[in-house]
Amino acid sequence: MLQKIKKNKMIERPRRLRRSDSIRRGVSETVLTTSQLIQPLFIIGGEGIRDEIKSLPGQFRMSLDVAIPYIKEALNLGIHQFILFPVVPDEKKDPLATYSYHSDNFYLESATQIREQFGDAVTIISDVAMDPYSSDGHDGIVIDGKIVNDETLEVLQKMAIAQAHAGFDLIGPSDMMDGRVLAIRQALDKEGYSDIGIMSYTAKYASAFYGPFRDALDSAPKSGDKKTYQMDPSNRREALREARLDCEEGADYLMVKPAVHYMDIISDLKVNFDLPVVCYHVSGECAMLMAAAEKGWLDLHEGVAETLLALKRAGADLIITYFAVDFAREIQEN
Ligand code: PBG
Repeated sequence: MLQKIKKNKMIERPRRLRRSDSIRRGVSETVLTTSQLIQPLFIIGGEGIRDEIKSLPGQFRMSLDVAIPYIKEALNLGIHQFILFPVVPDEKKDPLATYSYHSDNFYLESATQIREQFGDAVTIISDVAMDPYSSDGHDGIVIDGKIVNDETLEVLQKMAIAQAHAGFDLIGPSDMMDGRVLAIRQALDKEGYSDIGIMSYTAKYASAFYGPFRDALDSAPKSGDKKTYQMDPSNRREALREARLDCEEGADYLMVKPAVHYMDIISDLKVNFDLPVVCYHVSGECAMLMAAAEKGWLDLHEGVAETLLALKRAGADLIITYFAVDFAREIQEN
């Protein structure tokens, strides 16, 4: 009997809940707010510099005096979290990345000034890795062609302390050395920075999608690749292992990077751990959307909105994306 009814007359009609915009919004399962977005900023020394990154149209290398009004505008649009990357001139690079914790480092000075200017209205996140400062372009110390782990940790500790001292809220180790979260946690605590958090790049894959970022910083490896420290894109369970270690070592956030191509990993970390999950919608993933939109093959705003929503749906609590400010501007205007 039931079977007969089902055959002749559908009882379930999912389309009823899609009938109007009002109904659809009422049953929407995923909400994206500007507080969940983090805007990357490429900071360069000097003054009056606003230099567009060719492979990332609409993104600029900015000196601090240009970055400050940009941050002000972002705040008005509801974007209040920023992750800062330094554009370091070649002459300041060396094999040990010593400029990264040097007292006259413009990146550290920028963090101090942003903190002074905006107080706790902003969250500023650092990048801990040797590559922007390394003459070898690697995230660790290179000895005889090998990236050495434990020696690198000492550099990362110095960098993290200098960044905490400069005024960063969160330290962001992006280097994928073993044991870095514990090493950084211990160094911060010893120096009295127990309230400074660690946003760990937990599952960072050796990806083709970092190209525009390396252009922006001129930080591509001088030889070899990053496959002995960044993860193999074919591995899913290994991300759980990295996440377990980061939790044990004292991380405050777990990050998955890239984002769009790694939504299974985002979902796994969300389900299996209780720390906030961040995903990094990386430069190459953003550049793909920009390039397609430039060709007129898709609508940029719609493509961006759907991508960010999909990342939230997969389980990301926070999204680092080059579109953060542009997206916020677009939703405010419409
Ligand atoms: C460096 C670092 C990279 C990114 C963030 N931090 C590049 C790399 O590992 O080579 C990439 C971000 C992006 O592509 O947007 N440790």
